[in-house]
This record gives sequence, C-alpha cells and structure tokens, in this order.
Amino acid sequence: MEEKDLEWAKELDVRLFSDAAWGMEEMREAMLPGRRFVVADDGGPVGWAAMDIRGAKAHILSIDVDPAHRREGVGSALLSSLLSCARRLGKDRCVLEAACSNAPALALYKKFGFSAKGRIGGYYSPSLDAFVMEKDLD
Ligand SMILES: CC(C)(COP(=O)(O)OP(=O)(O)OC[C@H]1O[C@@H](n2cnc3c(N)ncnc32)[C@H](O)[C@@H]1OP(=O)(O)O)[C@@H](O)C(=O)NCCC(=O)NCCS
Repeated sequence: MEEKDLEWAKELDVRLFSDAAWGMEEMREAMLPGRRFVVADDGGPVGWAAMDIRGAKAHILSIDVDPAHRREGVGSALLSSLLSCARRLGKDRCVLEAACSNAPALALYKKFGFSAKGRIGGYYSPSLDAFVMEKDLD
C-alpha cells in the first residue's frame, strides 16, 4: 500500500461497508509500523488487506475485493500474502473477526484453515455478531 492507493482503498471500503467503512484516519493507521497494508494489483488496484502484527498473534483487520473481481482468487492472494508475512515475522497464530452473516468471508477463511473460537455479540451492529476465527501458522 502506498499513499497514492489510500483514497481508492477508502472508496472501496465505503462501497462495501457504507457507514461502517474505515475513515482516512484508520487507513493511515494501517500504514504505521506494526501493521501490514497490502494492495492487489491487476493492471490497477483490485483489492486490499490489512493486518496488525503488534500482538502475540497476527490480527487480520480487513480484506476488501472489488466486486468486479470477485471469485478470481484476489482475496486468496491477499490472505496468503498476509499469512506468509506473519510467518516470516515468527507469529504462530493468526486471528480475525468476521460477521456471522458474511458467507463469502467465512468460506474464504475456512478454506485457509481458520476455525471459529468464539462469538462476539453486537460486534458490528446491535443485531450483527462476529465470529472470532483463528488459525495456527505452521
Ligand atoms: C470475502 C472476499 C474478500 C472474498 O474475495 P474473493 O477474491 O472473491 O475470494 P477468492 O476468489 O480468493 O475465493 C477464495 C474462496 O473463498 C470462498 N468464497 C469466496 N467468495 C464466495 C462466495 N460468494 N460464496 C461462497 N464462497 C466464497 C470460496 O471458498 C473460494 O474458493 P473457491 O473459489 O475455490 O470456491 C470478498 O467477497 C469481499 O471483498 N467481500 C466484501 C468484503 C468482506 O466482507 N471482507 C471480509 C471482512 S471479514
């Protein structure tokens, strides 16, 4: 992720998550040391993902793929890139939250070996819970 990509990344997040989207402040925070912020490029940006690596476990914060490029392996490429980075940094576990209603994301994470370890009530909105999913990085 470079400064020039931030506006595009924010606009995609607004398209996907409306009011719950990251603002520019959160976008800039994801570029600070202790995080990893990556862009998938296919002749232009098609997706982005962010991870916090400050804790004992790598923490995936978000993955956004342009709706015009879904089911082309972009989400998998972004996730693989973050997991490889976490391994290189010596992390032995990775954690993330995903909305219980988000079937595409849950399927992606399960395909990569994540399993639900808990559920947080009202994490996204009063009626939308999150699964906490984890994976060993071996
Ligand atoms: C979830 C998301 C990142 C997946 O990105 P993607 O580029 O379409 O994913 P991939 O093409 O790499 O698909 C990998 C696997 O994910 C699963 N998957 C992806 N989209 C799916 C869908 N619509 N329905 C069911 N499974 C799906 C499948 O297991 C797929 O493997 P397969 O193609 O061999 O069946 C994308 O749908 C997205 O950006 N959604 C909106 C943002 C979001 O919810 N992010 C996650 C926040 S926790």
